[in-house]
Amino acid sequence: MQARLLNTAPEKAETDALILPIFEGQSTVPAEAAALDKKLKGAITQLLADQEFRGRFMELVPVHNLGNTPSKWTVLVGLGKPTELDLVRLRNALQAAGRVLRKRGHRRVTVLLPKAVAATAGAADLARAATEGIGLSNFDTGSLKTRHEQAVTQIDTLSIIGLDGEKSAAAAVKDGLVLAEATNRIRGWVNAPANAFTPTVFVEKVREAVKGTGLDLKVLEVADMRRLKMGALLAVARGSDEPAKMIVLRYGGGRKGGPTLALVGKGITFDSGGISIKPAQNMEMMKSDMGGGAAVVGAILAIAQLKPKVNVIGIVPTTENMPSGKAIKPGDVVTGSGGKTIEIINTDAEGRLILSDGITYAVNEGATHIVDIATLTGSIARTLGPLAIGAFGNDPPLMGLVRRSADLAGERLWELPTWADYDGLIDSEIADIKNATVPWAGATTAALFLREFVDGRPWVHLDIAGSAWQDASELKTVPKGPTGSGVRVMAHLAQLLADR
Ligand code: BES
Ligand code: MN
Ligand code: ZN
Repeated sequence: MQARLLNTAPEKAETDALILPIFEGQSTVPAEAAALDKKLKGAITQLLADQEFRGRFMELVPVHNLGNTPSKWTVLVGLGKPTELDLVRLRNALQAAGRVLRKRGHRRVTVLLPKAVAATAGAADLARAATEGIGLSNFDTGSLKTRHEQAVTQIDTLSIIGLDGEKSAAAAVKDGLVLAEATNRIRGWVNAPANAFTPTVFVEKVREAVKGTGLDLKVLEVADMRRLKMGALLAVARGSDEPAKMIVLRYGGGRKGGPTLALVGKGITFDSGGISIKPAQNMEMMKSDMGGGAAVVGAILAIAQLKPKVNVIGIVPTTENMPSGKAIKPGDVVTGSGGKTIEIINTDAEGRLILSDGITYAVNEGATHIVDIATLTGSIARTLGPLAIGAFGNDPPLMGLVRRSADLAGERLWELPTWADYDGLIDSEIADIKNATVPWAGATTAALFLREFVDGRPWVHLDIAGSAWQDASELKTVPKGPTGSGVRVMAHLAQLLADR
């Protein structure tokens, strides 16, 4: 997709569909669209007066321009109540509109941001939201269908009217494009079935993706993991016939000795639960258990284009979690690369095991800030659903930056506690710690486990078990399927760390 700011009058825009966002309760045509409405012989005025378009959130009414303007269609899109609109909802509304327009075969889309909407946020934030909203609509889950029932038109040109003259907005359009495209790429990976996306394929995809980016890629093989005594990652990998890998990506934008942000992502390409096997219901969803690892790659691909002055290292331990005669068993004790002994209570708590060796690797590589991201617990999915990332940490300043990053990214993120009051929950009778414990506070206890490996460095853990995949047909705001959760948060975080 191409995207740009435009200062043409809307009635003169040459486009397939001109999106006109309107708030609920607005009964007159926005001034910016008055001339357009006139050309359409008052059609928009009429629709508003007759309440055939009320501006309810995500309401969409296309009006044929009947050759009265260079654009073919005017599309009224409802933004709901002004008090409820934020940049997350603006992205969602535009993503939904973009999806409808694609199905209708429109390739060139123009978004008009009237003053009433443009006044709700800064120009750069609006430009990114509009670009990302439309950009993210260019994604489908049916990539392996041999017969397409729906049109597969992509929106290939986006123009935004209403933000011209703002230098920061033009730059934000470029950033939004990079971020949306990185997000869509990894949504495709998360959507891929586990038989077509093994750890080996994961590595191949990353190798292809980094070509020409200047990123440095290193892949640790099983022999390397043995040498580095990555007993936790190797323990999970034992049950699978697919060889485990650890992807290490480096972006060197900062000075030597400057801050180094480590992004560590869970790359379980299929999580059967292992010997503590999962129930059959919904097990197919566990192809998406590499969503954190994919998000790390997506973020670092975006970072390579955004070029912040900071060093970033992306670390993705990747393996299947399978039951077999070789698989680890509940009660087994393994030793991670940091030397801690871990009692395995539940082989389905595998994400924290592979992440622990990834985090230790980050520490040994000199990371000054650590962010890990993982589809880690059913607990967070039950708590927040697909609507938000759960965040945990040990350092308020870094958490503050992560929260700001989420705001810039237009991703919802909610902090949960790791108070010292929880101490003792992961103590093991036989070993240093255990990988599963009480049946409550599941997302927090997972975070406590990971905290054991960060060597006291500023760290934030992002649990995306809910937000990585939207599967509720009741929810209208986010399309079903992989969301690309976390990519944009981490890319913004790298920029904020650089700007300090
Ligand atoms: N991959 C799952 C978490 C998950 C659940 C992701 C639902 C997406 C949707 C993770 O490996 C897991 O199985 N976690 C267990 C941990 C428990 C055994 C301590 C869980 O949350 O039930
Ligand atoms: Mn599991
Ligand atoms: Zn898992």
